[in-house]
Amino acid sequence: MQPALTGPPPPPTGPTGPDARHLRDCLGRFGTGVSTVTYAEGHGSRGITISSFTSVSLAPSLVLVSVGRRARACAGLRGAPFVVNVLAADQAPLALHFAGRPQPELPVPWVDQDGVPRLDGTVAWLLCRPWRAYDGGDHILFVGEVQDFASTSGDPLLFQDGSFRRPGPRIAVPPTLETA
Ligand SMILES: Cc1cc2nc3c(=O)[nH]c(=O)nc-3n(C[C@H](O)[C@H](O)[C@H](O)COP(=O)(O)O)c2cc1C
Repeated sequence: MQPALTGPPPPPTGPTGPDARHLRDCLGRFGTGVSTVTYAEGHGSRGITISSFTSVSLAPSLVLVSVGRRARACAGLRGAPFVVNVLAADQAPLALHFAGRPQPELPVPWVDQDGVPRLDGTVAWLLCRPWRAYDGGDHILFVGEVQDFASTSGDPLLFQDGSFRRPGPRIAVPPTLETA
């Protein structure tokens, strides 16, 4: 059967499924970066904060973001180019702003990237065109093909155990485990 890419979320797993609170706590142990995916909607610029950004493929250059079906962005991203903005450690207010907690006084540093809105002051950004979308249960998995990108030095914003964080000290490993 073809996965559903439209319509309401599927019904939640029944009583045999894992307890949602405990599952969230368990998944929250996995520390991630924090990104805001930005896109144009009508004449406006919109964004959604996510932790589900991941790289997929180098050739072709593909990245993935997982967006809840109930999010406004789920409709907005369908067939639309987007930018993944990897937030800097000092951008937690922006993360909240685009996570359904608008910060009225916060200046949003919009810049235009080839007709797609992106945020200034991030540690990295990737401009993507839509490639495929997949059923992900109550989320849709949007895979984008990277058209352009840039990164700078500076600490990224992290998220773990329900809290924003910044990177801690490097961990020394035996030389044989060091990456090039
Ligand atoms: C740190 C953090 C990570 C989040 N990660 C995701 C995610 O990966 N996918 C998602 O759909 N929502 C995620 N959210 C929730 C969305 O940001 C939130 O539902 C937002 O209000 C949706 O905006 P929209 O309905 O305007 O598109 C995250 C929120 C926070 C604070």
